Amino acid sequence: MQIVLDPTGRTLTYTSRRGTARFHAIWLRDNAQDPKTRAPGNGQRLVALRDIPQDTTISAANVTDAGITIVFAPEGKTVTFDPDWLEAHVYDQQPDRVRGAMPHGTEPWDAAISTDLPTAALPTLETDDTALRGWLDGAARLGFARVTDGPVEEGALFRIVDLFGHVRETNYGRLFEVRTEVNPTNLAYTGMGLQAHTDNPYRDPVPTVQVLYCLESSAEGGDSMVVDGFACARRLLSESPDLFDVLADHPVPFEYAGSGGVHLSARRPVIELGPDGALCGIRFNNRSLGAVTDVPFDKMETWYNAYRRLGEIVDDPAMEVSFRLNPGEAFVVDNTRVLHARKAYSGTGTRWLQGCYADMDGVRSTRDALAAGWRR
Ligand code: FE2
Repeated sequence: MQIVLDPTGRTLTYTSRRGTARFHAIWLRDNAQDPKTRAPGNGQRLVALRDIPQDTTISAANVTDAGITIVFAPEGKTVTFDPDWLEAHVYDQQPDRVRGAMPHGTEPWDAAISTDLPTAALPTLETDDTALRGWLDGAARLGFARVTDGPVEEGALFRIVDLFGHVRETNYGRLFEVRTEVNPTNLAYTGMGLQAHTDNPYRDPVPTVQVLYCLESSAEGGDSMVVDGFACARRLLSESPDLFDVLADHPVPFEYAGSGGVHLSARRPVIELGPDGALCGIRFNNRSLGAVTDVPFDKMETWYNAYRRLGEIVDDPAMEVSFRLNPGEAFVVDNTRVLHARKAYSGTGTRWLQGCYADMDGVRSTRDALAAGWRR
């Protein structure tokens, strides 16, 4: 282990067996792990940047038995850094930014994954922390997971949400019913097939988890299917970067005004990218897409070509995983990423699902807490 201090005191070069990395004095001071800078219990930062002098430099740095001991000027504050912590937080060599990259910790999938999707029995998930951790990890990585062996009783879907988080209540209520109705106010309640879509793109923020739980399924057909929207967007990018760009670079309006006192709207692109270019959301729901006016005149035909082509990719059986949802079975989707659909079913018999919304932060939080040793 070796450290070299820049003559200006503004940067420090750290070399270990794993390589060399530079750190800035202001970054090191801001990230000091001493108990006056970070709360020992929860790691919350106890100082604001205004408490740290703008002209902070390193006046001395030494390798000691305790780690790397740094003296910051003008405060005269001494802080010792754990080399393992520093190595885990290197920022000197950033990977290249790739437009359309998958978010950290996720991977794309298509129909080939059908036999390898995260699936677990509800009683197991409720009692076995290791099983829950694996199922949550699959849900976070793939944006989709199945549950089997649940009770056939109303409200049982909340037991799935209880595994990782909290219900996101909306104007549809704490849960919504999906069943055949003679006079539908929403196309999801009729017997026709639906194109794969994300739910509620007109909300801001959009619900990031949807749970759909089957209570009755005696009608013919009506199979469920899911499609990885990120994989579809990446296929569009590889086919036609111009089409990907026009969907990513322009917001479009999504609207819902179906019942009294409710007029929801949001403006977002169909393909949403983060500032690093990585995918961060898909909104694909033709039923609630308003009149597009944020696309320049000379790009409107390209936008329609792109939206049409993305729809064709979504509809391609090579991209989809379909399955029959039986009573007591359910699935969860990352609603910012994975599109879901129901195939057409006949009018004889019944099909009754209950759905609710929740959020992906709870999925990742519970997974990571379990990984860190927390037990229910
Ligand atoms: Fe839906």
